[in-house]
Amino acid sequence: MSRPKRVLIILATVLAVLAMSLGGGALWLYTGADMSTEGTRFDRELAIPPLAKPTVEKDGTRVFDLTMQSGRKELKPGGATPTWGFNGDHLGPTLRAKRGDKVRVRIRNTLGEASTVHWHGMRLPARMDGGPHQMVASGASWSPHWTVNQPAASLWYHPHPHGRTERHVQRGLAGMFLLDDDGSARLPLPKRYGVDDLPVIVQDVTFDGAKFDFDRGFLRNTGFLGERTMVNGTLDPYRTVGDELVRLRLLNASTARIYDFGFSDDRPFTLIGSDGGLLAKGVRLDRVQLSPGERAEIVVRMEPGGRTVLRSFPHNSYGSGWEQRFGGGDDTFDVLELRAAATLRPSPELPAELSEPEVPDGSDSVRERRFTLVTPGINGKEMRLDRIDEVVVRGTAETWIVRNDHGVPHNFHVHDVQFRVLAVDGREPPPELRGAKDTVFVPPNTTVRIAMRFTGPADPHSPYMYHCHLLFHEDQGMMGQFVVVEKGQRAGPVRAPASHAGH
Ligand code: C2O
Ligand code: CU
Ligand code: CU
Repeated sequence: MSRPKRVLIILATVLAVLAMSLGGGALWLYTGADMSTEGTRFDRELAIPPLAKPTVEKDGTRVFDLTMQSGRKELKPGGATPTWGFNGDHLGPTLRAKRGDKVRVRIRNTLGEASTVHWHGMRLPARMDGGPHQMVASGASWSPHWTVNQPAASLWYHPHPHGRTERHVQRGLAGMFLLDDDGSARLPLPKRYGVDDLPVIVQDVTFDGAKFDFDRGFLRNTGFLGERTMVNGTLDPYRTVGDELVRLRLLNASTARIYDFGFSDDRPFTLIGSDGGLLAKGVRLDRVQLSPGERAEIVVRMEPGGRTVLRSFPHNSYGSGWEQRFGGGDDTFDVLELRAAATLRPSPELPAELSEPEVPDGSDSVRERRFTLVTPGINGKEMRLDRIDEVVVRGTAETWIVRNDHGVPHNFHVHDVQFRVLAVDGREPPPELRGAKDTVFVPPNTTVRIAMRFTGPADPHSPYMYHCHLLFHEDQGMMGQFVVVEKGQRAGPVRAPASHAGH
């Protein structure tokens, strides 16, 4: 054999081996990338976050106290995990108020690091919103106050410091904020907190010994995806229930994971509410999908002595097989076991009519705006705290057209408002998206149209946020700012946030 020929053969062999090992490596990564906790042994009683007890001031204002603190919590046997929480080591109490209530929350930050507290889903003045402009310095306090003026709903609260939201939420800063109204008080729905009405805060976690492991890992474009799930900070939780009908207030408080919830025995359930409150009518479903930040209220029927597992099933939501696998679409999680007592209290039948969502239908929108989501920004721009991206007029409705223009899944959350989903890729949305929403999943190469009304109050200097609620993306800059102005009023500049170093 001639020398050049030999060299060529060796070269070809080397290349072939290299290609094979690369391909093999990819295959190995691919097949190793799906996770399952199916068959979990549920051996810890589900914790229920305590209801915060407000003090009531002379004018009726309900005052809540929240201290942001660091601590340690034994989440699993064999060591305490360093965690953050509100008024405790991990997560926070459930706040509760009624439509019309004046509320004030006194926040104290003892974390040793600046943060914020944002009221996700709440209609309130921009200066009270707890976004990245309302930083609470370490050692400082902040006391936002507002009047609740929106329908009964399952909202939540969490930090929102620009660039660090993912970490602050992962360490455990999150809690629920439940709203009631006259209608919700009258309806015969399961409503005994912690008895037949359970908060279900779902987060995915990975442990490194006793510590949380926040490593995003290789090839995960969506952000951190944990190996197992916790509910209300309880791993492998079960709950014994004593009523025929049980209401679960599902909150996806994970930073990047999208869940497709159902029950292990495929029993159907009734969806009664979405992010912004009750639906017009309950909907029979056997799956409901929640992307980060979204909520769903479901009611499930139990039989005496029966058991079922709330499970997150694999779902085809990502377009390509690659994103599907590395975005967690092929994963299965056993989330929470419900164990019914041997005899159950009878529950009244669910009412046929619930409550008409207070969201515009697009017919009186005064304008359309387009938002294209491509990592790392929106409309080609990354978030800047000193730039106002959109100016809306108080009292008007608008239609926003949100387009995910690439292969990575995103969602879209707008502060201060609840919106109606008008269309997904030009089609009428599925029943689970027909209620009031503040966060909506936007799968790859998909367009979602939403309509909302900006009720203000006008404040040309204080922006509200809109962003992808996959917190890794949000932190990277997939966020923008809008201000609400009176007709004819000029917007900006963004006012340097007032110092919150007071007491
Ligand atoms: Cu739940 Cu701007 O966030
Ligand atoms: Cu929000
Ligand atoms: Cu995103």
